[in-house]
Amino acid sequence: MRVLRISALDTYPIRQQVLVPKHELKKAKFENDEDEDISFHLGAFKDSKLVSVASFFYERNPIFPDLHQYQLRGMATLPENQGQGLSSELLTTAFPIIKQNFCTLLWCNARLSAVGYYEKVGFKKYNDEVFEIEEIGPHVLMSKQI
Ligand SMILES: CC(C)(COP(=O)(O)OP(=O)(O)OC[C@H]1O[C@@H](n2cnc3c(N)ncnc32)[C@H](O)[C@@H]1OP(=O)(O)O)[C@@H](O)C(=O)NCCC(=O)NCCS
Repeated sequence: MRVLRISALDTYPIRQQVLVPKHELKKAKFENDEDEDISFHLGAFKDSKLVSVASFFYERNPIFPDLHQYQLRGMATLPENQGQGLSSELLTTAFPIIKQNFCTLLWCNARLSAVGYYEKVGFKKYNDEVFEIEEIGPHVLMSKQI
C-alpha cells in the first residue's frame, strides 16, 4: 500500500460511491476542494488502484479555542478494502503536514456510523449532541489535538 498526495478530482469517484451513492457527482464536491492554499487530499493505493481517500481543509470551527485548525472531510474507503488500516494510514500521513502548517487541531462532522472508527484513531466527541446534515444523516462533532 502507498499513500500519495492526490488531486480533488481524483477523490470524487470514491467519495461519490462510498459517501453519497444516491446523489449526483456534484454532491461529492466540496467548496475549496481545488484551492491548494486551503486544502490537500491524500489517497491510499493498493496494487496501483486508488482505494481510500481523505481531504483536509484549513478551516476554523469557532467552538474550539485553537486559532489554526483543519477540518477532515470526505473520508472514505471502498467497501472491499475497509478494515485494512487504510484510512488510519491516511491520517497518520496527514498529521505531520497539519502540524507543519502550524495547526493544532483536526476536527470533523462524524457520521454516527463512523464514530467508532474516529474514536479508534484518537478523535473525541465534542459533546453528545447529534445534528442532521441534510440528505446525509445524523452526525456528531469530533476533534483530535495534533
Ligand atoms: C469509516 C471508514 C472511512 C474507515 O475506513 P477504513 O479504511 O476501513 O479504516 P481502518 O481500516 O483504518 O480502521 C481503523 C480501525 O477502526 C475500525 N473501524 C473502521 N470502521 C469502523 C466503524 N464504522 N465503526 C467502528 N470501528 C471501525 C477498524 O476495524 C480498525 O480497527 P482496528 O485498529 O482494531 O483493526 C470506512 O469504513 C468508510 O469508508 N465508511 C463509509 C464512509 C464513512 O462513513 N466515512 C466517514 C464519514 S464521516
